[in-house]
Amino acid sequence: MDIETKVWETLCSEEDIVRRTAELGKQISEDYKDKKLFVISLLKGSFIFTADLVRKIDIPVKLGFMTTSSYGHSEESSGKINVLADINDDVEGYDILVVDDITDSALTMSFVMNHLKSKNPASIKCCVLLDKPVRRKVDLVPDYVGFEIDDKFVVGYGLNYGDYYRNVPYVFNVTNQDR
Ligand code: PRP
Repeated sequence: MDIETKVWETLCSEEDIVRRTAELGKQISEDYKDKKLFVISLLKGSFIFTADLVRKIDIPVKLGFMTTSSYGHSEESSGKINVLADINDDVEGYDILVVDDITDSALTMSFVMNHLKSKNPASIKCCVLLDKPVRRKVDLVPDYVGFEIDDKFVVGYGLNYGDYYRNVPYVFNVTNQDR
């Protein structure tokens, strides 16, 4: 599909995202004020959300990055999570918050949380910008959610279409309608 020829429906505007990210940052700052917050961002998808979210967190925070992949350029998860790059940090005793752009089947988040648990953190929770609960393949409820969305293929603000369009500053759905 050539998405340039299709109508794009905005699901989360730039204003929606700014507002909700500030709310999440405030909540996380309160919840972790007496803890040792360590944010682990899952690349590539969460690079923009993480950058915006941590700037709304006003307590000390460490940052680490992991690169995972399960979709490739497909719209369906392969079901196999590839860790392309693990964290190099010692997270023992820290309160980990895994940040991702979206939870769909939740296979990625579930795998990553189990993987990080083996590194002996004090606690581990997760925060996602978008949650698509109808698509779950494993039982997981994210601790912090920006927006719950329907079962639509979403692009923008870190989410890709054929590894492009991650730089679009809002989240959109590609409709079947021609422009
Ligand atoms: C996407 C997204 C999440 C994951 C969510 O990553 O960024 O990490 O899929 O899907 P799930 O809940 O069904 O596991 P992808 O594997 O496409 O890699 P990317 O981050 O490079 O886009």
